[in-house]
Amino acid sequence: MQEIRVAIIGTGAISNQHMKVWGHIPQVKVVAAAEIDAAKLKAWGEKYGFEEKDLYHDFREMLKRDDIDAVDVCVHNNLHTPVSTYALKAGYPCYSEKPMSATYFDSKLLYDTAIATGQKLAIQISSLYSMQTYIAKKVIDAGKLGNIYHARSATASRRRRNAVDRPALFSSVSFREREMAGHGQIVDLGCYHFGQMLYLLGLPELTCVLGKLHNGVEMPSEAWAASHPMTVEDMGVGFATFANGLSLEIQEASAINKDDFNDHYIMGSKGGLTWGMTDDFGGDWSMGGMGPMGPTGLPGPLQPQLKYRGLDDFGFNVTIDFNAYENQQDVRVYDPDMLQYLDNQMHWYNYLTSKLTDETRYNTPLIGLNASLLTEGLVLSSELGRAVTADEIKAMSKSMGIWKQETPWGVFDYEASL
Ligand SMILES: NC(=O)c1ccc[n+]([C@@H]2O[C@H](COP(=O)([O-])OP(=O)(O)OC[C@H]3O[C@@H](n4cnc5c(N)ncnc54)[C@H](O)[C@@H]3O)[C@@H](O)[C@H]2O)c1
Repeated sequence: MQEIRVAIIGTGAISNQHMKVWGHIPQVKVVAAAEIDAAKLKAWGEKYGFEEKDLYHDFREMLKRDDIDAVDVCVHNNLHTPVSTYALKAGYPCYSEKPMSATYFDSKLLYDTAIATGQKLAIQISSLYSMQTYIAKKVIDAGKLGNIYHARSATASRRRRNAVDRPALFSSVSFREREMAGHGQIVDLGCYHFGQMLYLLGLPELTCVLGKLHNGVEMPSEAWAASHPMTVEDMGVGFATFANGLSLEIQEASAINKDDFNDHYIMGSKGGLTWGMTDDFGGDWSMGGMGPMGPTGLPGPLQPQLKYRGLDDFGFNVTIDFNAYENQQDVRVYDPDMLQYLDNQMHWYNYLTSKLTDETRYNTPLIGLNASLLTEGLVLSSELGRAVTADEIKAMSKSMGIWKQETPWGVFDYEASL
């Protein structure tokens, strides 16, 4: 099996998840890492046993090495496009964290740069890598839904505002800052939900979006609000239409005065698919392996579930029960190739080594781009107070990328590299 030598950019929270998963793929060797925070880099290097010579403060220096095959980008949202386009232009295939970018403009730039440079690009969209998505796609492609006419992507947590209700250990303060994150829940988890939904719907052509963003739920106290300033939305709602006649309802909330809910469905003339939890966790390896609680290592109520309901509700009424631990393991035993569709990073490794091709891989840059268009529609519609067409979104979208980044090591001018 071909060895791939990876360099990581950004050694924050998510880089540890990536390292955990790389640990399951012995053909991948992480050879270097770059991080602007000196203390963080040092601690990270010690944790994973890196020599000082393989740790960099300026990733651009790191990319001058001649022993790197690919780059794993783990920086904040509004740095995804500046950093990943730099890496692509420097001649590296790139695996870039989600969301693809905070705006359609930036996602398109990243997408176009991958095409122009001919480098392989993948975006982390965990929700694609589950049996749930795999089976749903097979059911849809087999025509079991008939004419698909309506869908809903709705997720809300009573309290899950990043670095506000959720400890900053899991989600750094950058998640609640507009400058770094761009937006809140609509990009943070929305990218998983919209990406999965649009992929299953066959990436239909967006025509129009009506959306509204809110920052509705009060902080627990004034003191808390002062110490946890949040400049991104806590809820986005919307309604989108597509050229093929399809309509889509959207709701994304990181805070709501109601119990949590997950309600995702696709309705067709012959059948409908419904699922709850959307597998935002990155597969078993990312979750720490298949534990006693089930395939994803998550407790029961969080298990993804996919249900098919058809015309013949009694004769053809299938509930795919993912609580059965054996289900997922069996698939791997009988079809080891399945593994590459159950893990983001395994998928990327197989794409880099050409086991997966442009035809057989999940085209995550294209899926991410479509998700960005929808997200941006919600934002622009909310700002303008009216529905916006896809053409308007494309024309009005602007970069939120940090093109001149102030760092302790000077200003990183990404524009100069364009
Ligand atoms: N934390 C999670 O649970 C999680 C889950 C999935 C995806 N993500 C995504 O991963 C990305 C990073 O999130 P995180 O939680 O790891 O944030 P984080 O703040 O913990 O880590 C980001 C790191 O990037 C570093 N950085 C910034 N500019 C840099 C540069 N020019 N060169 C090198 N390093 C640089 C920062 O110093 C920081 O340590 C985000 O886009 C987020 O959406 C995070």
